[in-house]
Amino acid sequence: AARINIAIDGPAGAGKSTVARMVARDLAYIYVDTGAMYRAVTLKAIEAGLSMDDDVSVGKLARELDIVLLPGKEAQLVLVNGQDVSPLLRTLDINRNVSYIARLVSVRKQMADLQRRMAMAKGVVMDGRDIGTHVLPDAELKVFLTATPRERATRRYRELGDNPGITLDQLEREIAERDRLDQEREIAPLLRAQDARLIDSTGRSIDEVAEEIVQWGLAIA
Ligand code: C5P
Repeated sequence: AARINIAIDGPAGAGKSTVARMVARDLAYIYVDTGAMYRAVTLKAIEAGLSMDDDVSVGKLARELDIVLLPGKEAQLVLVNGQDVSPLLRTLDINRNVSYIARLVSVRKQMADLQRRMAMAKGVVMDGRDIGTHVLPDAELKVFLTATPRERATRRYRELGDNPGITLDQLEREIAERDRLDQEREIAPLLRAQDARLIDSTGRSIDEVAEEIVQWGLAIA
């Protein structure tokens, strides 16, 4: 079978990264978590004390970052200039700032270029917000994965561990705010591509959803 590219987009907490990782494993493809790349830039921008809407400074910072994604046991490992920053990317602080960083033109351009290079040889499962619409408009298979806001908040709540530092209700509101920022931004907003297949994962097991995508992929490849 020919190798194809698979784009999986959708709002926060829809299960994209878990599903994408399973699909990549089953097809022996490479998984690319593009949200982790925006999170890595956000981490470094916070560390450098930059303002989240300073396109010039954050763009310059992003150019100095060598971002490498490696397959890990659980989530994907993210190396920035050789340092493994993976454990630092899923905090409330990053959650609250990442959608501002993701609005910046220069950051989006750099990330999209990097993502396209990663997908050039095909055989990539890439998850994000704008993969089917902007990064890989020619991806052979596009999926738009959603779930109800409550279900998505519950999934993200579990990711925060034993001391979440936030209530489920508050987290649900913060996720809704992040989705709004992602949907309303000018460049490459969160949007279902016209040719993306829609999956609502509410109440469905992650395995079942991943299997459905694998079967679609096999039918196309
Ligand atoms: O997928 P994840 O929740 O880790 O993404 C974090 C944030 O990164 C999103 O809320 C969005 O602002 C940004 N993002 C993006 N484009 C992508 C992937 C993520 O703007 N392709």
